[in-house]
Amino acid sequence: MRAIARFLDRGAAASLEHVKFDDMPMAPGGHGFMGHNGEFRHNRLGLLAQLARSPEPIMRLKIPAPGVTAAVVNEPELVHEMLVDQGRSFDKSDMLRFALFPLAGEGLFTSNGALWASQRKLMAPLFHPKALERYAGDMVGCASRTLDAWKPDETFELLRETTRLTMSVAGKTLFDADTFGEADEIGRALTTALEWTGWMMGRPWAIVHVLARRRLEALLPKAPPAAAPAIEAAASRLRGPVALFGPRGRELRAAIRRLDEHVQHMIDQRRAAGTSETADLLSRLLDARDESGGAMSDRQVRDEVLTLFVAGHETTATGLAWTMYYACRHPEVYAAMEREADDVGPSPTAADLPKLGVCLRAFREALRLQPPVYMFGRDSRGHVSLGGYDLPPRTNVLTSPWALHRLERVWPDPERFDPDRFLPENEAKRHRYAYLPFGAGPRVCIGNHFAYMEAALALAVMMSRFRFESLGEDEPLPSATLRPKRGVRVRVTARAAHKTKPRAHDVSARP
Ligand code: HEM
Repeated sequence: MRAIARFLDRGAAASLEHVKFDDMPMAPGGHGFMGHNGEFRHNRLGLLAQLARSPEPIMRLKIPAPGVTAAVVNEPELVHEMLVDQGRSFDKSDMLRFALFPLAGEGLFTSNGALWASQRKLMAPLFHPKALERYAGDMVGCASRTLDAWKPDETFELLRETTRLTMSVAGKTLFDADTFGEADEIGRALTTALEWTGWMMGRPWAIVHVLARRRLEALLPKAPPAAAPAIEAAASRLRGPVALFGPRGRELRAAIRRLDEHVQHMIDQRRAAGTSETADLLSRLLDARDESGGAMSDRQVRDEVLTLFVAGHETTATGLAWTMYYACRHPEVYAAMEREADDVGPSPTAADLPKLGVCLRAFREALRLQPPVYMFGRDSRGHVSLGGYDLPPRTNVLTSPWALHRLERVWPDPERFDPDRFLPENEAKRHRYAYLPFGAGPRVCIGNHFAYMEAALALAVMMSRFRFESLGEDEPLPSATLRPKRGVRVRVTARAAHKTKPRAHDVSARP
């Protein structure tokens, strides 16, 4: 508590005097030659758990690379200051942009500045809560179609199935495309690309790229006009890896080729068909014109489509699998969710959403314990004061929802699964930025309402038709996103037989 009091005092004095970056407390751990980078690579969740236990609101990280400064924020009020109040003083982190470049290029998730602002403005109307209602039918249709392929009694990895489900929802609602036939193949290619991203983050090879690019960009303003285009081209080349070596590199190339083919096929089909009746995301991208009347380049369309396709399904699939994992371990929650599912039946509509309160709260609680985006970073644009400390330009500041969601001072008994934490009266007692699965500020997830709606509807369809039994423990595997290591093994049983008899563990849970 003393550390927080110090932080609040410093905040009050921040406009008067800033404390030097080097005087910021060092994060726990970080021993050895590689500093925190070593732990980040080999014991990511261990490092985050140490942060969650630390009383310090902001800490320096030891990164053994000349000219690299990094910190981590560990306090909801400071998260607010960084992502919201000073959101425009930070860019998406260069490291993340580099590691995601092969997959997402300069799409909405990774771009900065004017490009990001214009693309966000273009896409935002499609994700407005009012606009989402029209997706409910497709969400339920895709969930039902996924379940139609399940046998009355079978065992499988739930994550594979929730991925088929959410991928088909993203394909249908955003691009009017049917992904069912290719779901497993596309899923494998995406997994390869995301694993490469998670593996590459923080590697020396990645740091070299990021630093070399920054050097070139710093040269530009002073460069003679004749040299500027060459420097610009070299800097642009360093946005992604200059070469991909070894088996991992070959696998990534093949995966990206497969994904590019899929996206190009969708674009070609849409162009051949002319304008779409659905006015979906793809037609918005293809029809967009800049001030001089120019269309978006094919590369930009590809980056946006892949970004939305990946961001629009991978995280929700993981969240759904974790929700069932925890629900199966908490019979009273399971029973309450199942009652809601039975109440709305296997074909719910948008009008049924208010009846799915427990399903939604269980999903939110699963995202608290296992946030798919378990950490994200920003780089300060220039000198920025944060929490009373003076951050040097291009300081990489990390935020970890996984650690924030385990702060004992905010979340009593943090490892306990308890959807009631999200009852309105309990939410009102917490700091708004203590819960961060979707980020916050100008770069908040554009699809957060989409994800909540899809999750509640999908859970209702799944639980009204099948009963789930978890087959053993699972654990989070931190890569680009946080996935269950064993994919959540379950046995499902068709429910017609169950519906007539009450479950042994049916107790009344608070709806
Ligand atoms: C449970 C599901 C989801 C989770 C946990 C999640 C998480 C996040 C987070 C944490 C960010 C911000 C990252 C940062 O600040 O650096 C983000 C951004 C984004 N998300 Fe989501 N997301 C989910 C679902 C979706 C869906 C359904 C879509 C689209 C249909 C989507 C599209 C995006 C996009 C495009 C961005 C970048 C927004 C921008 O920078 O303007 N996400 N997401």
